[in-house]
Amino acid sequence: MTEHVEITREGHVQILRLTRADKKNALTPAMYAALADALNGANSDDGVRATVITGSGGCFTAGNDIGDFASGAGAPTEGEQPVTRFLKSLATHTKPLIAAVEGVAVGVGVTLLFHCDFVVAAEGARLQTPFVNLGLVPEAASSLLMPRISGHQLASEMLLFGERFGAAEGKAAGFVNRVTPTGGAEAVALEAARAIAAKPPEAVRLTKALLRGDPAERLQRMEEEGKLFAQRMASAEAREAFSAFLEKRPADFSRSAA
Ligand code: COA
Repeated sequence: MTEHVEITREGHVQILRLTRADKKNALTPAMYAALADALNGANSDDGVRATVITGSGGCFTAGNDIGDFASGAGAPTEGEQPVTRFLKSLATHTKPLIAAVEGVAVGVGVTLLFHCDFVVAAEGARLQTPFVNLGLVPEAASSLLMPRISGHQLASEMLLFGERFGAAEGKAAGFVNRVTPTGGAEAVALEAARAIAAKPPEAVRLTKALLRGDPAERLQRMEEEGKLFAQRMASAEAREAFSAFLEKRPADFSRSAA
């Protein structure tokens, strides 16, 4: 268990709160493990009819802990590492998943949204998928889901340029349902979760399954991405990007070969 994921229940709604605000809720292996267990557990728990993922401290999550990337502790290589379990739990989750995004959402903080059924983002949200900037490739089946949801050109822009974008752009890109004033995302997400939890649960589950289709496609893409991601983690480009972040300096790719 970890103190950095708070798991609570409100009626039939499970709330997963990331509570590592001093590090912008950057995700560690222990946090991935707690999230995966909670999501997998909810699949077979009749008491849970919807799950809300939210952050704390005005922040959703800055993605994978870069210190763990640099040390290899958070590498999404083969096998059942916590991050792999978490990504699979997203791809195979059978009940409504709702996200409340305030402030920073980076990397998997954005790519997990493509597995959510309802996404609320506050006006102050700063979303970014900077995998290329870090010498990496996309994960969480985002290379499959993002073009499908947002169209090829927008997905290319977000995944190749890795620039920051806002809640309104997320809505225009089709993966944000509602934009709220800053500080208001969680209340709207909880309201949506309560509403869906009051509906007939089997009809909801079957409808989600029909909408999402066979998880095998998403799991296969995650595996393909994971192999490349693991290779890229050891690349000179990624090493330079991780060092630059940890040393608080701009990255210099002029000398890093592959
Ligand atoms: N991994 C580890 N630590 C992180 C982190 C991450 N992904 N994101 C932020 N932190 C830490 C910072 O190192 C800093 O720690 P310190 O106070 O001990 O120095 C603290 O969280 C606050 O972050 P800071 O950068 O000062 O906040 P900011 O508001 O200026 O910027 C971000 C926020 C998210 C834009 C910036 O921290 C960032 O770019 N983080 C990296 C995001 C990323 O690339 N994630 C991986 C995606 S694959």
